[in-house]
Amino acid sequence: MPARLSVCKGCCCGRVDRGNNPVPYDALKAVWKSKGLDEHVKLSLSGCLGPCSMNNVTLMTHGKERVWLGRLASEDDYFALVNWAEQISAGSPITDLPEQLAGYRFTPA
Ligand code: FES
Repeated sequence: MPARLSVCKGCCCGRVDRGNNPVPYDALKAVWKSKGLDEHVKLSLSGCLGPCSMNNVTLMTHGKERVWLGRLASEDDYFALVNWAEQISAGSPITDLPEQLAGYRFTPA
């Protein structure tokens, strides 16, 4: 069963008109497709995932495991998601985060 990465595109995440950091949704989708990452890590843009105050939020799931990331700020952070997905495609568990992303992990209340 593939992992799934949900990138929040809800009421707050990515909403620059609300003073939040942008999310490079289209670029991310394009890279995902060009690298064929979908086979092992499905990428989906989702509605509000819940913890809006942590924007910008993503959620990686695989079986019963969940890894929440919040306060992603730069385009670089989003492209670190690509590295993470490549690691997962190569057999790493989703809990094995690239260093750049490790500090963004949180547990929702
Ligand atoms: S809008 Fe992203 S968590 Fe609510």
